[in-house]
Amino acid sequence: MPWLSIRRRLLFNMCQRIIRNPFLCFNILFLTIIIVILTFRTSNIQQKCSLDQNIAQQQNISYKSSLNKPVIFIGGMPRSGTTLMRAILDSHPLVRCGEETRVIPRVLNMRAAWKKSTLEWNRLMAGGISESMIDSAIRAFVYEILLQHNQYADVLCDKDPFVLKYASYISSIFSNAKFLLLIRDARAVIHSVVTRKVTITGFNLSDYRQNFKVWNKGMETMIDQCTLVGKDKCLHVYYEQLVLQPKKTIENILKFLNLTWVDSVLHHEELVGKKISLSKTEHSSDQVIKPINLEALTKWIGHIPDDIKNEIDTLAPMLKKLGYDTQSDVPTYGVADQLVLSNMNNLKENAEFWDAKAKAYARHLPNDTSLFQNHTNN
Ligand code: A3P
Repeated sequence: MPWLSIRRRLLFNMCQRIIRNPFLCFNILFLTIIIVILTFRTSNIQQKCSLDQNIAQQQNISYKSSLNKPVIFIGGMPRSGTTLMRAILDSHPLVRCGEETRVIPRVLNMRAAWKKSTLEWNRLMAGGISESMIDSAIRAFVYEILLQHNQYADVLCDKDPFVLKYASYISSIFSNAKFLLLIRDARAVIHSVVTRKVTITGFNLSDYRQNFKVWNKGMETMIDQCTLVGKDKCLHVYYEQLVLQPKKTIENILKFLNLTWVDSVLHHEELVGKKISLSKTEHSSDQVIKPINLEALTKWIGHIPDDIKNEIDTLAPMLKKLGYDTQSDVPTYGVADQLVLSNMNNLKENAEFWDAKAKAYARHLPNDTSLFQNHTNN
């Protein structure tokens, strides 16, 4: 075969030899199979690695985006309508506040105490516990509680009345936090504390003078904090306006929170026991089951001792500063919406139904009540 080159001839000879030698034939076949398997496995491993990388990236993205969820903090002096406010927001499909966490204000309080004590703070710094370390740990703690307590809602929300004392710190660790500061006539707040026997640190169930001073100090701190974080992040919500003109007030609140209007926010009572869960250890549960109403608006009138009334501007100057009429024994807070008037009719006409529902949600502490004593909140 002269037309074949020497190389081709060699190859031809080799093939002939392979065909004639079954052992060599088997070896070559075996080697080929091994090479095919190895190539296949390598490509699989590469694919799996890139898949794992993808999943990790996705998880990282969702973790990061969940860290950026908007957070609403609702606070104010206890008995100022904070539970009503959170129930109203709970009836928005994107938001969940839930019951008081109780642990969030405590952790913030603890951090504030470390910071306040120069000795303790210096010790922490000397021991290698830096301020940024503390901040990121507190942020992680608060965020984890909110995320899980709020069942991973789109907009997280916390209602623990005293959180507003730490608004500027919270704002520094949660850049996208917004705050609602509930404000209510001090006379109504104190009447509520005394008649409902709500135990709050600083308040004394038989000392009106002390109570006005404590309310004043608390409000001063919270208003200052609200001012510090700025108008775009902290909104004053007057209880009286909320219950007299709910539509206008809630519209304003939702706009401030960048949330769209939904009619359900005007009828939170329909979602109690469904989207809205209430704790039997909280003092307001058996009131918040009702539609927005005026039952509590002027209950305090006629119950403030005369000597206190005369001294009110000295005991609680914040009351006048916040726009309340401290001179009148019967202040007027505004005109009620038709919706609220029909809610009042509903409560009157179906009194038995609402009483039974209120009984079902009445405050009931677990057996070991010692756990609930000496708390900073009711
Ligand atoms: P009173 O104790 O004067 O009745 P907080 O939840 O911040 O402790 O506030 C409690 C106050 O909010 C209570 O005031 C309660 O009546 C009022 N409140 C709760 N639910 C309400 C509702 N559906 N309509 C109007 N006020 C309500």
